Amino acid sequence: MLKKVESLLAEVMAFNSQDLNAIEQFRIRLLGKKGEITLLFTQFKEVPNADKKAFGQELNNLKTQAIEKINLLKSGPANKTEEENTLDYSRPAETFSLGSRHPISIVRNEIIEIFSKIGFSVSEGPEIEDDWHNFTALNFPEEHPARDMQDTFFIDKHIALRTHTSSVQVRVMEESSPPIRTISPGRVFRNEAISARAHCIFHQVEGLYIDKDVSFADLKQTLLYFAKEMFGEKTEIRLRPSYFPFTEPSAEVDVSCNLCKGAGCNVCKNSGFLEILGCGMVDPNVLENCGIDSSVYTGFAFGMGIERIAMLKFGVNDLRHFFENDIRFLKQFRSTV
Ligand code: PHE
Repeated sequence: MLKKVESLLAEVMAFNSQDLNAIEQFRIRLLGKKGEITLLFTQFKEVPNADKKAFGQELNNLKTQAIEKINLLKSGPANKTEEENTLDYSRPAETFSLGSRHPISIVRNEIIEIFSKIGFSVSEGPEIEDDWHNFTALNFPEEHPARDMQDTFFIDKHIALRTHTSSVQVRVMEESSPPIRTISPGRVFRNEAISARAHCIFHQVEGLYIDKDVSFADLKQTLLYFAKEMFGEKTEIRLRPSYFPFTEPSAEVDVSCNLCKGAGCNVCKNSGFLEILGCGMVDPNVLENCGIDSSVYTGFAFGMGIERIAMLKFGVNDLRHFFENDIRFLKQFRSTV
């Protein structure tokens, strides 16, 4: 009997087939109701007591080997689906690259967040604008040379691509009554030669605050708050007198250079300061043009280029990088807003 077990074991070891039918036949021959292994189990009681232990072990081993072999052959390559055969489950997972926000969006969102903390809401308007909202309401008289301050893309005599988002603020003033506290982020267009410092399409955020008793001191404090939030607690600001048709008085605002910390470097041209925005008290003519009583209300306005702020914040020396969508440039930026 032991001989029989040994020869069956050798047969199990040698058996090989991909044919499910043949495998099943083999199973029935060995493990079926009248199978050879099954039979050996029924004959087990005839084994002398002294040999029972050793024989039992051999027989059990034969049965397990036979079952394992049959299961293995049944799931062999020919009996698997194409997908099971071509998938390599041991292959390391592929890494996938996460997208990142565009630096202009990062800075725009940051500006919006900074001003929303002090109660400014966001307003938006059309990029194709009429002469009234882009110029006339903002105190640019018709045919006045001040219109040349911003080289304009005209679509026809009275319609143009907006040159600033001040046009949105005209719309807000026309549609609502003070107190007004709003910022207008958006794309603007100027017919300028493309260079490291200028582009014909860029982005602005303009701000407007109108209420009773709004003063130039409010403007200064608001901009100082903004500069510290944007560039760090130690940032200082400097106001220089300037001219805009829609504000009086007007100023340009510089922040202390965050690269050399005011000591002077080639980015700030050794002045220790960098210009970031234009601002002023809203001209009473503008308030009246938009239906706001200038004997009751005053207000301030400011406007900044997002590209310029992003260049200063991230130390980018060529504005054109923002428009080229070079993945090597873009993937350096990560945001929380
Ligand atoms: N609209 C101006 C520009 O585009 C910026 C500005 C806004 C200046 C508000 C003063 C007040 O250059």
